[in-house]
Amino acid sequence: MSKHKILIVDNSAKMRKNIKGLLEIGGIHITEASDTDAGFTLALNEGFDLIITDNNIPEMDGLSFCRKLKINQSTRGIPVIMLGVSETDEEINRGFVSGAAAYISKENIKGSLHKTVSEVLHKSLFRRERLVMVVDDSAMVCKLVETGLTEAGFQVVTAENGKKALNLLKRYRPDLIISDIDMPEMNGFAFCEAIHKDPELATIPFIVMSANSTRSHMNRMLQRGAEAYIVKPFNTDQLVILVEKLLSDQFLLLLKEKERLDAERNIMLASITSLVAALEARDKYTRGHSDAVSDIVSGMAEIAGVGKEDIELIKIGTKLHDIGKIGVRDLILLKPSNLNPEEFEHIKRHPLIGATILRPIESLSSIIPIIKSHHERFDGKGYPHAIKGEEIHLWARMTAVADTYHALTSNRPYRPGMQKGKALEIIDDIKGTQLCPDCVELFLRWVSKQY
Ligand SMILES: [Fe+2]
Repeated sequence: MSKHKILIVDNSAKMRKNIKGLLEIGGIHITEASDTDAGFTLALNEGFDLIITDNNIPEMDGLSFCRKLKINQSTRGIPVIMLGVSETDEEINRGFVSGAAAYISKENIKGSLHKTVSEVLHKSLFRRERLVMVVDDSAMVCKLVETGLTEAGFQVVTAENGKKALNLLKRYRPDLIISDIDMPEMNGFAFCEAIHKDPELATIPFIVMSANSTRSHMNRMLQRGAEAYIVKPFNTDQLVILVEKLLSDQFLLLLKEKERLDAERNIMLASITSLVAALEARDKYTRGHSDAVSDIVSGMAEIAGVGKEDIELIKIGTKLHDIGKIGVRDLILLKPSNLNPEEFEHIKRHPLIGATILRPIESLSSIIPIIKSHHERFDGKGYPHAIKGEEIHLWARMTAVADTYHALTSNRPYRPGMQKGKALEIIDDIKGTQLCPDCVELFLRWVSKQY
């Protein structure tokens, strides 16, 4: 709750201080107003996330203030918590009728304010991030539904028929669609069908609003994929509740799908870590090499401003860059002296073996270039395909720099690890021939940040 802006409107300085004290636990930014006129001006100009007001303020009371906020286009989306003296049904009801999102009696303020504020803000944020598309040839219906939804805090976009709505869908991706049936150019049946035929749009919940209440009409729309059918004339509050319910259900579904994918990904990462550990357990000299290369390349990617998701992929890809060595014979992999040409040909197969191992994992397809091309050289004299320059995937060129540097500075059975300065000299010497010059520059920027 730390960044939320809350306005407290109450004529009692003591009450304002009391509310402020109760909320400051959450570190919220609070503005105060001692009357509703000042409160309204602030609400118009400062974009609050929540307003807390007393229903009993002299001159303009809190209930009229709340109604005024709900009528104005710029302020109607701000949720209001109404404070009252008692817990009578009548007083609570008056608060909700004025448009308040919650009611708290001053007697219970200590125990319930913080929780209510959290809940109202959470709900309001959820609504503010949801875009609803309203499609109806009647401008009056469009306006009515738009007003009801924006008052509840939703974002709204409108269209006067199915054809115009489909055009708008090229620019907007609504979270829910509410559509009339009888419209010129493209009616609701055809529009609903078009939405559900498009795999990109088919999952958007679709509500039909129609004056036709015959069962066959409703069934026809539901069969075409509509989630709900609401008969005109309807109460917009009813519609808002339906919209919120469908959006929450949709949100929960997406959340569950995300949790499933995250769990799948974690299992995959654990398997990969075991695979790398199994590979490195064979050879004490390369133990930790994959992790070190991964740290360097992901650090370089961060400096280059690569996005979070790509950095995650780079981390996995670089950890796995030598996974194909699982297919290299121990005699060659662990040989303490230089390799003969035949042995070298054998070890040169590891990038393609690695790519073959990972190919069945679809979610890792974008990291295969790292595995396949980390031994390609910038001048085209590398392996396995002798491609050159930018034909080599950028992530593979970055990995080649880190791989070379870490190999140079690590102990090997046939030589001790080089000093950092000497290794950097060598990296500089092979810049433009073996290694990509831009990637070397990026690597040097990473080095300068390490020491
Ligand atoms: Fe390698």
